[in-house]
Amino acid sequence: MRKNIIAGNWKMNTTLPEGLALAKGLNEALKGKTPNCDVVIGTPFTHLASIAAAIDTTKIGVAAENCADQEKGAYTGEVSAAMVASTGAKYVILGHSERRAYYHETAEILKTKVGLALANGLTPIFCIGEVLEEREAGTHFEVVDGQIKDSLFELSPADFGKIVLAYEPVWAIGTGKTATSDQAEEMHAHIRATLAAKFGNQLADDCTILYGGSMNAGNAKELVSKPNVDGGLIGGASLSVENFMPIIEAFDK
Ligand code: 13P
Repeated sequence: MRKNIIAGNWKMNTTLPEGLALAKGLNEALKGKTPNCDVVIGTPFTHLASIAAAIDTTKIGVAAENCADQEKGAYTGEVSAAMVASTGAKYVILGHSERRAYYHETAEILKTKVGLALANGLTPIFCIGEVLEEREAGTHFEVVDGQIKDSLFELSPADFGKIVLAYEPVWAIGTGKTATSDQAEEMHAHIRATLAAKFGNQLADDCTILYGGSMNAGNAKELVSKPNVDGGLIGGASLSVENFMPIIEAFDK
């Protein structure tokens, strides 16, 4: 059975004291509760170790938002997958559209990052998604298939089984313009069929596929009610406990 996951992606927001307060607040809000999904927070590198030490990481997984495409050495300013893992983080968000667009991360670079993340015991949350022009041109399925094939299809089935996918249509990120639940479901079902053709039905069925893009307390329940939508990757609405908790609770019966 695949897992349901609600993951926050804080992006480049919060100072360390602010981030710590947010993480502790979420930890407090989850005390005595057993959500029907795994909860993850993706934080800046600078916050990982302090946050992992301050919260119950059996209840809230900690994610980095990136890692280097090199193992170690003379790469000034980079943070390796091993360093991320040593903080207590268990996940790493890779291939976010902001990193693809602003930092020129190619499919090849991402393939390397995924390999290093896995080698260091991290679970990659691998992001895919088309831009508006691609959706309007009707090439969105092809684009997303290409992103998956080019970075993940050389993985062994055992390694592929460790990947979480996040479908984030770029036109829905930070725009307040969420994909409809039908659009999300259509793409997620398509992705699952692509995975089944390569890795077989079982692995495809077991793969957690998150939706991301203007997900919030108001639309989360409808999105996760779809059979192929296994949770969300949430930006803006993950920056306060008040906005994030109801998204976690969208899985409550
Ligand atoms: P928003 O939820 O702010 O649209 O961001 C989505 C996202 O990019 C998560 O990775």
